[in-house]
Amino acid sequence: MPTPHISAAPGDFAEVILMPGDPLRARYIAQRFLQDAREVTSVRNMFGYTGSYQGRRLSVMGHGMGIPSLSIYTTELIREYGVRVILRVGSCGALRQDVKLRDIIVATAAGTDSNVNRMRLGGHDFPAVADFMLARQAVEAAEKRGRPVRVGSVFTSDLFYAPEGEVAKNAVYARMGMLAVEMEVAGLYGVAAEFGARALGLLTVSDHILTHESLSAADRQTTFDEMIELALDVAAA
Ligand code: HPA
Repeated sequence: MPTPHISAAPGDFAEVILMPGDPLRARYIAQRFLQDAREVTSVRNMFGYTGSYQGRRLSVMGHGMGIPSLSIYTTELIREYGVRVILRVGSCGALRQDVKLRDIIVATAAGTDSNVNRMRLGGHDFPAVADFMLARQAVEAAEKRGRPVRVGSVFTSDLFYAPEGEVAKNAVYARMGMLAVEMEVAGLYGVAAEFGARALGLLTVSDHILTHESLSAADRQTTFDEMIELALDVAAA
């Protein structure tokens, strides 16, 4: 300690952490929602903060884009800094007509084209699932706030810019029940399982794969704030 990618001192992170992809979103969450937040790491500008929310210690840190980046930060946070609960707060692209821009998804499971979880299991399939209690708390928090959420599986892709053959598979993922595509959740659930933490992915629908719509900057911010409020409810539960 510090680890290769995190410069924080032992004990600098809370046991519960919110993780957006973008480190500047982590800074925004810290400044807007936490009390007494202080920066605890800034290696590669992947900023992390620890403060409190409703009297409980809480951290927030960026995890970057894609499974490899997320895996590095989450592994070090769990193994070296004692993080026990990870809430990814990210965005996704809707795969189905019945999923709309601004929807918030509680990602109970994730399929993936990544090989990382099979590497963990000697080539076999791994059930990349959320921690049930966290998912339940998120759904209950949403009900309490009167903010509808979608609950279901997502597809975690290694390619944001995919060749046509891969894009065509989006229809299959949708038919198999997946609500949206994003780039980290399956990896998060694999890391959490391997190192003994609990994890949940919360996602706002920022893009629509079928209609090619995307959120305006203002809508992106409002929806993001609503998702953060749900994540904070879970963190404080
Ligand atoms: N693909 C992958 N990840 C995403 C997308 C997408 O369309 N939108 C937001 N995150």
